[in-house]
Amino acid sequence: MNRVDNITRLPEEAYEDTIRKFAREGAHIPGDDGTNPWVPFGDAASIKHFCFDVRTNSVANILWVKGGGRIGTHKHRGVVSAITLEGSWAYYEYDWVARPGDFVYELPGAAHTLYSDEGMKALFWINGPIEFYDDNGKFDFTADVFWFIDHYTKYCEEKGLPINREMFI
Ligand SMILES: [Fe+2]
Repeated sequence: MNRVDNITRLPEEAYEDTIRKFAREGAHIPGDDGTNPWVPFGDAASIKHFCFDVRTNSVANILWVKGGGRIGTHKHRGVVSAITLEGSWAYYEYDWVARPGDFVYELPGAAHTLYSDEGMKALFWINGPIEFYDDNGKFDFTADVFWFIDHYTKYCEEKGLPINREMFI
């Protein structure tokens, strides 16, 4: 199939030249071609990073809890949404269990502890910082866009992997 023949041509806008001059392309970020690592996150989980937007303090990534794991108690300062890809996961604070295909959103002010009995993978779109606390309720660290960038880039540097600049919006 000739792809060019399948492109629908749109009418030009009055300022089409400006759009072409200043617009930026989106990107295709490989997930499983060997270039995008699972970066360890605590004892029970890993994160595969997909994008970092420093203007809006937002990131997209897949969280993988490998089974019988929990993620420390955290409080949100922005909106988070997630779609479950594999396994199941939940928060101790709520009655629901998220399974493949389920969508979850979390709002500023929510504080909870994620766990997964059988393991899980979910794609998260995270806006704003997340504050993590230890088991005694003592503040541990803030995960904002720069924490996620640091998590990804330091691991790549340590392992000699290329940093994918396309991930930076
Ligand atoms: Fe959360």
